[in-house]
Amino acid sequence: MKFFIDTANIEQIKEAQSLGILDGVTTNPSLMAKEGITGEKKILKHYVDICEIVDGDVSAEVISTNYKEIISEGEKLANLHSQIVVKVPMIKDGIRAIKYFTEKNIKTNCTLVFSLGQAILAAKAGATYVSPFIGRLDDFSNDGLNLIKEIKKVYHNYNYKTLILAASIRHTMHIINCSKLGADVITGPLNSITGLFNHPQTDLGLEKFLSDYKKGNT
Ligand code: E4P
Repeated sequence: MKFFIDTANIEQIKEAQSLGILDGVTTNPSLMAKEGITGEKKILKHYVDICEIVDGDVSAEVISTNYKEIISEGEKLANLHSQIVVKVPMIKDGIRAIKYFTEKNIKTNCTLVFSLGQAILAAKAGATYVSPFIGRLDDFSNDGLNLIKEIKKVYHNYNYKTLILAASIRHTMHIINCSKLGADVITGPLNSITGLFNHPQTDLGLEKFLSDYKKGNT
């Protein structure tokens, strides 16, 4: 399973990259705004800066909602850097645009996916990634993880090549459960990823090993 970090914060991206387990980055307009990155020029430069830190795919989201504008914005984003994946919303014009990008060999991430039907459309259009938002489903008393399970089954039934990118990850157990269900990628905040390191027995065990070593070597 690949690990993407879901942020536009450069320090956090650098920290995740330094762990040696990072496979890519996802961003969205809200995450950009949170970092104070506004205006087209600054936003485009920020994508390039992120690509230069990480080795893998970097999702850059279009803000256009009609076909022609999604195409021209997406092509501009794709031309920024070879690691850019054009992130397109799950709307009719978005699906048409994904089909176009697929034919042009431009990688895509179909975002804002909340149902199995939407995930099937994304796969039929040839999206590289589909992003079911599991945390936001949980927020509305839906079972986000169950959507991952359903998509996995249907993609397997039809041998769809689209990769399941579990998004809107809120905590470490989302990551664990996505791995059990066979999600291809998770994207989450840094603390959901670093949470995987934690176990009190690891801390206690290490403390004991180090103190026993000291006893034997003083
Ligand atoms: C995915 O690509 C989105 O940027 C993201 O995972 C949304 O997460 P949120 O629901 O925590 O905003």
